[in-house]
Amino acid sequence: MTRSLMALGAIALAVLVYACVQQAGPRLVAPPQIADAEFVGTEECADCHADKVEHFSTATHAVLVVESANATEIGCESCHGPGSLHTESGGEDGTIINPKDSPETCFQCHLDKRADFALPYTHPVTGGALGLTTSRMTCSNCHEPHQGPAIAGGGTAMASQGDTCTQCHIAQRGPFVYEHEALREGCTTCHRPHGSPNPKMLTERNQTLCLKCHFQEQTDSTTILIGGRNHSNLLSRGTCASTGCHEAVHGSNTSSSLVF
Ligand code: HEC
Ligand code: HEC
Ligand code: HEC
Ligand code: HEC
Ligand code: HEC
Ligand code: HEC
Ligand code: HEC
Repeated sequence: MTRSLMALGAIALAVLVYACVQQAGPRLVAPPQIADAEFVGTEECADCHADKVEHFSTATHAVLVVESANATEIGCESCHGPGSLHTESGGEDGTIINPKDSPETCFQCHLDKRADFALPYTHPVTGGALGLTTSRMTCSNCHEPHQGPAIAGGGTAMASQGDTCTQCHIAQRGPFVYEHEALREGCTTCHRPHGSPNPKMLTERNQTLCLKCHFQEQTDSTTILIGGRNHSNLLSRGTCASTGCHEAVHGSNTSSSLVF
């Protein structure tokens, strides 16, 4: 009797955990592994890393759970791996994963990003595509793992996505006397942040990019109007942002036509 009740209890618990995973919030994931280490739960980390644990409930990744006895509170260990050896040793070197050292931890769950960073033009996070031996950037240059939305500009974050980019790309920050209104929609209107088959990580090749927003009209065999001006002799000179054309594509201090 007691035994069958216990079995029933176990089934009920299993269903409960399953239901949590299916509904809004928790996402079932496979975290990284560390040989001989076990999961201890986020609370264990608070003893020594209170600053990280304090605001973690607001982080995008706080909703992650794994399929194990301590399926709740797996938060920190979903990226850092099981923490028993690390906590027992009081934080000894080499007992925990730091994704700063390699993006592999992130790729484990975000498989498609490995492919993005293998494209011909990428941010130098993995090093491979640009022929670098060491990576010069990490995912966390642009993503916040410990607090708030993982993508800046999402949710209630104060920083916009553009602020993330212009910390490093100062030349694109402006303000410009003649701004290009396209930038108000964010850098990712024209650039893929991880990688692209196109030079400068552009979302589209050549004038295709510009003609997404700027209407092209052929009025007769010698006249192709873009922005109300005849471009028929200009289009063969290169891309819209080539030398002598709209080189100041991010904004200009000298010309409303975005030339230097
Ligand atoms: C008993 C104290 C203690 C506990 C508990 C603890 N840590 Fe640490 N941790 C340390 C110390 C000490 C360091 C090394 C100095 C530093 O970076 O603060 C460290 C470093 C780290 C690092 C950086 C390692 C590196 O190689 O760059 C990470 C990541 C980390 N801890 C994650 C965790 C996680 C996740 C937990 C919970 C599972 C946890 N820690 C629990 C003491 C602790
Ligand atoms: C989404 C993955 C992810 C999660 C979840 C996560 N971290 Fe981190 N953690 C990182 C990354 C990435 C870094 C490296 C940051 C950098 O580039 O400096 C890091 C660095 C650290 C460090 C090294 C010291 C430092 O300030 O850089 C500690 C300690 C740490 N995390 C503790 C924690 C604790 C505690 C939790 C849970 C409350 C947690 N992390 C949850 C990804 C994560
Ligand atoms: C254990 C699996 C796992 C690991 C490891 C992991 N993530 Fe995630 N990540 C997820 C899941 C699942 C979501 C979706 C959460 C949601 O939408 O509720 C997510 C969401 C995100 C988002 C936000 C997506 C959005 O649309 O808001 C970013 C950015 C991100 N992860 C980056 C990282 C980075 C950078 C690392 C490494 C430091 C990392 N992740 C490690 C599972 C993981
Ligand atoms: C140069 C800045 C930058 C770097 C470096 C970067 N990201 Fe992102 N990532 C972004 C931006 C910006 C977005 C939002 C894309 C959008 O809004 O179109 C994003 C979106 C994401 C998303 C959610 C949306 C999607 O495309 O699936 C995930 C997951 C993600 N990044 C993971 C990673 C991982 C993993 C790494 C490291 C291997 C990484 N990112 C490195 C800027 C970056
Ligand atoms: C932590 C610094 C950093 C941040 C943040 C950053 N970048 Fe970069 N970016 C770099 C580095 C480093 C390179 C590679 C430059 C090189 O190879 O000479 C690069 C290259 C580029 C290139 C190609 C430049 C070229 O000449 O081919 C573009 C476009 C670019 N980033 C756009 C962005 C956008 C959009 C964002 C925001 C989503 C962003 N970057 C965020 C550091 C950063
Ligand atoms: C309207 C589309 C558009 C938007 C929006 C845009 N860019 Fe660009 N960006 C371009 C084009 C086109 C090039 C290539 C210019 C060339 O071929 O020389 C470029 C080139 C770059 C380069 C390489 C250096 C250079 O000037 O050639 C960086 C870095 C860059 N952009 C960063 C950014 C950042 C950061 C933002 C957001 C603040 C942003 N871009 C928004 C179209 C855009
Ligand atoms: C996301 C939409 C968008 C994209 C993509 C875009 N633009 Fe624009 N652009 C605008 C808007 C909006 C304006 C301001 C209104 C106008 O003049 O049409 C503008 C204005 C301009 C102007 C100033 C026109 C004038 O004389 O005042 C030039 C030049 C220009 N864009 C060139 C480009 C080039 C070159 C590209 C491709 C690299 C490009 N744009 C891509 C939206 C875009």
